[in-house]
Order: sequence, then structure tokens, then C-alpha cells
Amino acid sequence: MEQTLALIKPDAVASNAVGAIIQRMEREEFRICAMRMLHLSTHEAATFYHAHKGKSFFDSLVSFMTSGPLVALVLERENAISHWRKIMGATDYRKAEEGSLRKEFATALERNAVHGSDAEETAREEIAFFFSTRERA
Ligand code: CMP
Repeated sequence: MEQTLALIKPDAVASNAVGAIIQRMEREEFRICAMRMLHLSTHEAATFYHAHKGKSFFDSLVSFMTSGPLVALVLERENAISHWRKIMGATDYRKAEEGSLRKEFATALERNAVHGSDAEETAREEIAFFFSTRERA
């Protein structure tokens, strides 16, 4: 069964959307294999988003991702990566589909409420970034 890393970003935690987003994960029949709340350091956020280093929005993204606690989860189901990305909606919330999490909870291009891995290899890396083997049920 496929696994993906999901983040509930600091904007969604600050607006009390954690419960609603986890409820949606369960309604979509994802199994929650691991979950933790943490506050990333600047170094950790920059490492997590290393693929975006050099882009115009990188510093602002790191600053946003360290602005408060976030929730990291490992989600499992068939086609977990693509299904979670569909439920999240487009990165740009103005283009996010009706019924998607970003349509409901995002408030800016950067403050887009949730994150999901984009491919199998990235999912493996991102899951290992947040969780030790012992923490994954
Ligand atoms: P995410 O799916 O976590 O991947 C990278 C993040 O960078 C993205 O969600 C947004 O939060 C942010 N992002 C992507 N593109 C832009 C942009 N053009 N301007 C500002 N932030 C962006």
C-alpha cells in the first residue's frame, strides 16, 4: 500500500482547522500511520524545502513554515500520493477545485494550509525527514 507525507501547515493550525483536515483524511479512507506536532527551525524548514532553494519565494516560505507549529502525518491507502494531492487541490488556492482543502482553508499562494509529497521517492525522503522507523505504525 502506498504512503505519502502530509503536512497541516502553520496557517491551518493557527486557524483551528486541524480537526477538520484530519476528519477529511479519515473520510477519504487514508490510514494514519504516524502523526506529530512540531515547530520547525529555520534550518529544518530550509532542508525540507531544499528543492525550492534559489526561488524568489524561498526565504518567505521558510519564514512562514517556521512561524508556528505544524502537524506532520504519514497517510496510507491505494494511490495515496495522487489521491492526497487531489484532495488538497491546486498549489495556487485561486485555482483549487471546489471541495478541495486548499479551496476551503488556503488564504494565499504561500499560506496554502496543507502539503503532500509529489512522487514515491519524495514521499520516502519526506517521511524519513519527519519520522523514525519506530514512530511509523
Ligand atoms: P507546497 O506544496 O508545500 O510546496 C512548496 C510551497 O511553496 C507551496 O506549497 C507553497 O506554500 C509555496 N509556494 C509555491 N509557489 C509559490 C509562489 N509562487 N509564491 C509563494 N509561495 C509559493
